[in-house]
Amino acid sequence: MPLPSIEQVDFAGKKVLLRVDFNVPLDKATGAISDDTRMVKSLPTIELLLSRGAAVIIVSHLGRPERKGDPTLSLKNVAAHLAKLLPGRKVEFAAEAVGSIPEKLAAELKAGEILVLENIRYYDEETSKDEKVRTEFAKKLCKLADIYVDDAFGAAHRAHASIYECAKILPGYAGLLLKKEIDVLEKLITNPPRPFVAVIGGSKVSSKLAVLENLVLKADAILIGGAMAYTFLKSRLIEVGNSMIEKEYLSQAFQIVDKAAYNKHDLLLPEDHIVSSEFGEKGKIKTVKRAIPDGFMGMDIGPKTIDKYASVIKKAKTVLWNGPMGVFEMKKFSAGTYAIAKAMSKVKGSTIVGGGDSIFALTQSGLEDKMTHVSTGGGATLEYLEGKKLPGVVALQK
Ligand code: 3PG
Repeated sequence: MPLPSIEQVDFAGKKVLLRVDFNVPLDKATGAISDDTRMVKSLPTIELLLSRGAAVIIVSHLGRPERKGDPTLSLKNVAAHLAKLLPGRKVEFAAEAVGSIPEKLAAELKAGEILVLENIRYYDEETSKDEKVRTEFAKKLCKLADIYVDDAFGAAHRAHASIYECAKILPGYAGLLLKKEIDVLEKLITNPPRPFVAVIGGSKVSSKLAVLENLVLKADAILIGGAMAYTFLKSRLIEVGNSMIEKEYLSQAFQIVDKAAYNKHDLLLPEDHIVSSEFGEKGKIKTVKRAIPDGFMGMDIGPKTIDKYASVIKKAKTVLWNGPMGVFEMKKFSAGTYAIAKAMSKVKGSTIVGGGDSIFALTQSGLEDKMTHVSTGGGATLEYLEGKKLPGVVALQK
C-alpha cells in the first residue's frame, strides 16, 4: 500500500509535528556531532513544509538515555546545529517535549518557524510496552500540532509513541526521506534489475542471519566478508585458526549456504585472507589461502577474493552492500572494504549502501556521491530487508 505523501497536502497555517531521526553520532570526548548526515537528509522535508506555510515542531530521540535529563543526550546542540543548516530560519528549542513549556512555544510558533523538542526518550512513556501508556503520551505530543509527518526512517522499526501512536491520532503523512528509503528498499526486494548482488559483511553472522535467509531467495549472488565469513567457513569444516567465530550459529550458517545452492543462487565465501598473529597491526601479518593456519586470525579478505568479488560486482545491475569486509578501521586490514566501495562506484546500475560501518567506510573513501542511495537506517534497513513490516510504515498506511 502506498505511503500517504506530503506532496499533495496544503500546509498553509498548519502546525506540523515532524518526527525525524536526529539520532546522530556524537564525539565521545567533546560531545560534538561527528556526522550530521541524518539531519542533512531530512532537510528537504523540513524545507518543503516551511515553504508551504507550515510551522514545524520537531520530535526526535538521541541515544538511549538511562535517566531523564542526561545532559549528554540533550537535543539542544542538535537544535543549534539545525539552525546552522537552515540559515535565515528561526529555530527555537523547548527544554521539555510535552507540557506547558512546549505548548506555549508551539502556540506562539509562526509559519516558517521551527521548534525542536527535547529528547523524546527522556520520557519512559515513549518506549513503554503498554500501548495505553504510549497512547496517552502521544496525545500530549499531538496537542501541539494539526498534522503529523514522519521522516524518521532510521527509527521506523520501533513501535514507539512518537512513531506509531501519533500517526493514529493526527492525519499522518510520510516525509520525503522516509518515502525515498522505502521506495528504494521495496524495489530492491520485489523487482531489482538483475543481476542483483548483495555484499554482506560485518563481525557477527547472528545479526545478519534473518536478512541472509531472505536474500538467498532474492539476490543472484551474495558475497560474504568480515568476521562472519569465518563462521561460514568453519561450518564447511575449513580451518579458521584463531579467527573470531560464533559457534552457536554454525549450523544455521551451514544451512544458509545450502539454501542458496538449492535456489541456484551463488553464495561466495573468501578464497584468501589477510591474517595476523594478533588482533592489531603489530602482529605477524600475511596473506593465506582459504584455510587459516593455527596461531593466526582473519582480519580482511585477500587479493584473490577482492578480484573475484569486484568482477561479480562489475557485472551487476543492482548492488546492495551492508557491513565491512574486514577490520577496516586499521589501515593494514582496510583494502577489502575499500575495494568494495571502489567496485560499486563503477557499476552501471543501482548501488545501495546501508549500515553504519559500511557508510563510514564509504565516506572515508570519498565515493559516497557515486552511490545511488545511502540509507540512513541501520536496524530499520535490515528489518525491511528481512521482510518484516516496520511499525513506522504500517501506522501511516492505516
Ligand atoms: C538507529 O540509530 O538505528 C535509530 O535511530 C534507532 O535507534 P535505537 O536502536 O536506539 O532505537
